[in-house]
Amino acid sequence: MAFLPLCKTDEVESGSSLRVEPDSLPPLAVFNLDGEFFVIHDTCTHGDASLCDGEIEDGEVECPWHNAKFCIKTGKALTFPAVEAQKTYLTRVVDGHVGIEV
Ligand code: FES
Repeated sequence: MAFLPLCKTDEVESGSSLRVEPDSLPPLAVFNLDGEFFVIHDTCTHGDASLCDGEIEDGEVECPWHNAKFCIKTGKALTFPAVEAQKTYLTRVVDGHVGIEV
């Protein structure tokens, strides 16, 4: 496993998200939940919507297209029409950068 930095911690304010497009991976969504960072696939498993365009509330993100909700920590699909979980990544902060283990 190797650490892949995605962005600086100060690029993602608490309660918000940032879409990043690393080489050799699909677009990813970096979330900041009260100072804790989580990274999941950005493209909704139900369609092609970017979850970074969705509303964040209580640790969940709501897809902007058909309003499915996902748990940001686990990627689990919580409401229809999505049934498939978002892929999650082991997320760490190293030297002021948010990144994942790949
Ligand atoms: S594209 Fe996300 S719920 Fe349909």
